[in-house]
Amino acid sequence: MEVIESLIDTSCDEYKANYEAMGKLVAELKAELNKAREDRSEKALKRNEELGKLPIQKRLDLLLDRNTPWLEIAPLAARGLYDRKVHGAGTRAGIGLVCGREVLVHANDPMIKGGTVYPMGVKKTLRCQTISMENNLPMIMLVDSGGAYLPLQSEIFPDTDDGGRIFYNQAIMSKMNIPQITAVMGLCTAGGAYIPAMSDHVVHVTGTGAIFLGGPPLVKAATGEEVTAEELGGAEVHCRQSGVSDYFAEDDRHALQIIRDIVALLPPLEKARVPRREPKRPLYDPQEIWGVVPRNISTPYDVREIIARMVDGSEFLEFKALYGPTLVCGWAYIHGYQVGILGNNGVLFSNSSLKATQFISLCDRQGIPLLFLQNINGYIIGREYERGGITKDGHKMVHAVSTATVPKFTVIVGASFGAGNYGMCGRGYSPRFLWMWPNAQIGVMGGEQAADVLVAVKNDQLARDGQPPLPQEIVEGIRGPIIHSALNEGNAYYSTANLWDDGILDPAMTRDVLGLAISSSLNAPLAGRHQGHGTFRM
Ligand code: COA
Repeated sequence: MEVIESLIDTSCDEYKANYEAMGKLVAELKAELNKAREDRSEKALKRNEELGKLPIQKRLDLLLDRNTPWLEIAPLAARGLYDRKVHGAGTRAGIGLVCGREVLVHANDPMIKGGTVYPMGVKKTLRCQTISMENNLPMIMLVDSGGAYLPLQSEIFPDTDDGGRIFYNQAIMSKMNIPQITAVMGLCTAGGAYIPAMSDHVVHVTGTGAIFLGGPPLVKAATGEEVTAEELGGAEVHCRQSGVSDYFAEDDRHALQIIRDIVALLPPLEKARVPRREPKRPLYDPQEIWGVVPRNISTPYDVREIIARMVDGSEFLEFKALYGPTLVCGWAYIHGYQVGILGNNGVLFSNSSLKATQFISLCDRQGIPLLFLQNINGYIIGREYERGGITKDGHKMVHAVSTATVPKFTVIVGASFGAGNYGMCGRGYSPRFLWMWPNAQIGVMGGEQAADVLVAVKNDQLARDGQPPLPQEIVEGIRGPIIHSALNEGNAYYSTANLWDDGILDPAMTRDVLGLAISSSLNAPLAGRHQGHGTFRM
């Protein structure tokens, strides 16, 4: 395959300024991730120690195979929400190796408000279950949670994608033959009691773990009966009498060892086969992406410069290189796995949309995973393009993305606006994983554009009534808040806080993260090629 020849001059001022700017964004990201992992109150640390429980990081370290990669999911979920201290939405989750098997781990952090479940915590658990189901990954849950965060109970409880869905999914996952292994490492109350109850394997830590539908305070209030948590739902009760739990653990360490033993006994799994070859490092250092990406999101640059720093040997077989040039499509390998890559080099025209449709369809038929590198302001607009049928050509691309059955992966490397987000496999199009870069922005349209649209609408109304257009100070009064909210709500941190993505990545790490994600996705069989599609509008 041909090697992409980079035109980037790494000694020029522009490159250095870009590098420095991205370096700052990545330093900020690392500080945020550290804070999410470590910012716990003295009170909570002391209480955890008194109870003889291991901190969450230690639990993960003991569960996972040593010195193996860990792909954390949504570590900054709920950032800035609630009291700004519900880090990671109160949980740690990710994909790691246990006894050589790729598994999804989901653990409550009892040091964040007793591990209680906030609305974003529900959303994160549901997201983890989706990942587990789509990629056929066994799910390990380390439960240590006071159940619903009661002050926000109305936002957690009744709707389709609220708390009850977690247990519904557990039943469906069991039916799908996806192993679910739960360790009871704290109190599991009410709804929380159903997490172990709905699992295939339940390990119960004596002394600290308990399962009950109503905790001691509720029992006292309802019946007057005085009972301790251990008497009501401890390991002795559930391993010896009720049969709710299967394995009696002396402490956290013992429980984690039992989980490892259970995983080791799972039936072996044959991964799906996609075209592979020996992995190679890219010819250009992935770290150079920092200097390639312009500081200003509106400055155009060639997406091939990113691809060259992401794929094995920087080798790329470009598809229809001369046709529809605002979308670069082609084949490459990442950590030895063949992928079909689509990357934006400008707005989408009819020809680029048709090229995408053909390329996606080819990859889907050949069983090749798809990688979307999103930096898109949308589809082209205007009289000429409407007459040329941009809407129906955009439809073909969106249709092909929606119906493709091979694993899809999306990285938002810059802008993600309007229907461009859809065509380039935004969250609504079920990519197996979606990440943002720290410079990325997302929204229906940019703030400036949205402000211009609303001012134009107002001026049209006035013109209809024979009035003069809005004076400048009123225009600024309309524009200001719209631009402000688009900036505030369109950045990568807002996105990740609200679980619109699976995390923000250091661009230099993207290649490695993709390697792990592709490997994880192959736990599920390919859905079957030639699945076909609906009716294309011609
Ligand atoms: N909703 C909201 N906040 C809760 C809560 C809940 N369900 N359960 C605990 N908290 C808060 C506490 O108020 C405390 O807040 P603070 O740090 O601001 O003081 C914090 O979580 C830790 O609770 P604490 O009781 O001090 O810690 P602990 O480790 O001794 O016990 C629990 C933790 C969760 C076992 C215990 O608090 C408990 O039993 N909670 C009630 C559980 C329940 O009945 N849930 C029903 C949900 S359906």
